[in-house]
Amino acid sequence: MQGRALLIGNWKMNKTVEGSAGHARTLIRALEDWWDPKLVQVVLAPTALAIAAVGRILAGTDIAVAGQNLELGTEGALTGGISGYLLYEAGARWVIVGHSERRQHFAEDDALITEKVKAAWQAGLNAVVCIGETEAERNQGATERVVRQQLNLLLAGPLKGGLTIAYEPVWAIGSGRVPEPEEVAEIAAIIHGEVGARWPEAENRVAVLYGGSVNAKNLGGFLNQADVGGALIGGASLAAGEMAAMVRAAQQEGPRAR
Ligand code: 13P
Repeated sequence: MQGRALLIGNWKMNKTVEGSAGHARTLIRALEDWWDPKLVQVVLAPTALAIAAVGRILAGTDIAVAGQNLELGTEGALTGGISGYLLYEAGARWVIVGHSERRQHFAEDDALITEKVKAAWQAGLNAVVCIGETEAERNQGATERVVRQQLNLLLAGPLKGGLTIAYEPVWAIGSGRVPEPEEVAEIAAIIHGEVGARWPEAENRVAVLYGGSVNAKNLGGFLNQADVGGALIGGASLAAGEMAAMVRAAQQEGPRAR
């Protein structure tokens, strides 16, 4: 039996509102007639300003919209902040939390990320939490320790909503370098093991994605690994044609049933 792959396109701080809307339209056309959403789930994460416009275009399709970040709370005095509640209202049903760029540039730590996941669940959003080691940590052989550490607080409380964990080694993001699929499989198995130990009833509800320099050529290699349920894609998701090619690869290649 083939599992359902999850592909999330993280557009980061790219594309205007109009450009995002145009991309969504192009992608719908590119997937027409062959894409089977029961085999590949597709989620797009445009800039916050474009969520509503992209959401309107995707309404009635099986493509979902994600925020790239959220702040705690619902509304109030937090200049510049966007809550999960506001993301949901704009049409998002998913949100990326704790991306390494936010850990690095906005000093997000595991405690804040855990609170953000709870806020996402309160708003009715599926949370996609990013974890992964830096190049220095990898060189020290600390990958497994870092991954377990980043999961520790997150998994301490009860599971109260949709949770996906994206393993994104920091050194692989935007670099064109990727780990071996077998290395990703090892980390994915560790993540599944931690989730299963904390929430035995929910182990199969938490998908593990790989992220970092994914493209249509290398995606299949990751999806062929038993514990990898999909991918979080940055640069390659910015071109609708490449995104469609990745959906096609995912539809053909996996993920394998666990
Ligand atoms: P790239 O696919 O551009 O390496 O980015 C990965 C990423 O950070 C997705 O969240």
